Amino acid sequence: MRFQSLYLKNFRNYEDLELEFDPGLNLILGENGKGKTNILEGLFVMGLGRSFRTNSDREMIAFGRETALSRAKVISDDEKETEIEITYSNEGKLIKVDGVKLQRTVDLLEKVYIVVFSPDDLRIIKDGPDSRRRFMDRELCQIRPVYYSDLGSYKKVLKQRNMLFKQGCRDESLIAVFDESLADYGIRIIEERERFVSRIRDICASIHFEISSGEEKLGIEYETRFSAAEGADLAEKKDIYKRKLEESRESDMQRGFTGFGPHKDDLKIEINGIDTRQYGSQGQQRTAALSIKLAEIDLIKQETGCSAILLLDDVLSELDQRRQRYLIEAMRKVQVFVTATEIDPEVMRLLPKGKSFVAKGGKVLTQ
Ligand SMILES: Nc1ncnc2c1ncn2[C@@H]1O[C@H](COP(=O)(O)OP(=O)(O)OP(=O)(O)O)[C@@H](O)[C@H]1O
Ligand SMILES: [Mg+2]
Repeated sequence: MRFQSLYLKNFRNYEDLELEFDPGLNLILGENGKGKTNILEGLFVMGLGRSFRTNSDREMIAFGRETALSRAKVISDDEKETEIEITYSNEGKLIKVDGVKLQRTVDLLEKVYIVVFSPDDLRIIKDGPDSRRRFMDRELCQIRPVYYSDLGSYKKVLKQRNMLFKQGCRDESLIAVFDESLADYGIRIIEERERFVSRIRDICASIHFEISSGEEKLGIEYETRFSAAEGADLAEKKDIYKRKLEESRESDMQRGFTGFGPHKDDLKIEINGIDTRQYGSQGQQRTAALSIKLAEIDLIKQETGCSAILLLDDVLSELDQRRQRYLIEAMRKVQVFVTATEIDPEVMRLLPKGKSFVAKGGKVLTQ
């Protein structure tokens, strides 16, 4: 799968930009603040219907404008062309695929598969659990659109339950209705995440083993306070889940916050049996993050049969030579967009052939 072209109108610092891409490597160079990440963002929204760096679509509309537009041509692995167009305005966004309006953003998720990797992702191991949950959620939303709906519903019910408590509600039967619904979605989310981790585990481990020259064994586990006996059916799981909610109800009421559920879970990451989140060296944490990110490309291929598109925002310069080389090897398998202020000539020689662009602040030169 690959992007053939991108058109941006009043999107961030681009009034009117049209780019044609290389099927392999696309290097986007330029000084700080000139619009390199904006191009990656423009591509990313085509795959997920939202930005990877803001929750507010409106931020993407150029200052002083009412609407913005991004449009891309995507070529599938079997050479079928699809045109995706998103219009952003104060009223929300409108997504069209081949000229037909999509009713729900979720329907966009299976059109393009994107893996984005930025310096923030390099920190997912040492950052708080929320960054690791975000990572799992983002990946799962792409490969399992139903997860996207479940997660949205779960967050909505959770917010309503917390709101009830904040308002001092003590109505047991009303709270039970919310608990019922939270248990339904919560179990689905936990099970999907567990399945995801069990699938990605071996891929990550073998990549990490290779980058660390066979010295480190990476282990990842989904970490949750929910547990049910092997073979338990859905009704039994729901009972356990609801009991957990009941146990924490009193303190939830006091805090106006739900203390149990997948929004509190984490990804446990170990190297040679030692918790990397807490005890890993910076290098180990980075290698683990890189392994997990690269594993996503393989997982998407396994789960969907499609090759993903890789967006690398400023990460090359953050990696040492060995890790850079590993990443560059991975670039040969998929279409890749790489941003950087500059690229070391040594690294440049290793890169696959492709196209270079220079962001100049609102304009982009093709080299
Ligand atoms: N909504 C917007 N309208 C107009 N310009 C915007 C908008 N949002 C951001 N910008 C501008 O875009 C520029 C930043 O773009 P971007 O983040 O792509 O830079 P960059 O080239 O990736 O920089 P760096 O190398 O520092 O990461 C800034 O100059 C900022 O003022
Ligand atoms: Mg940037």
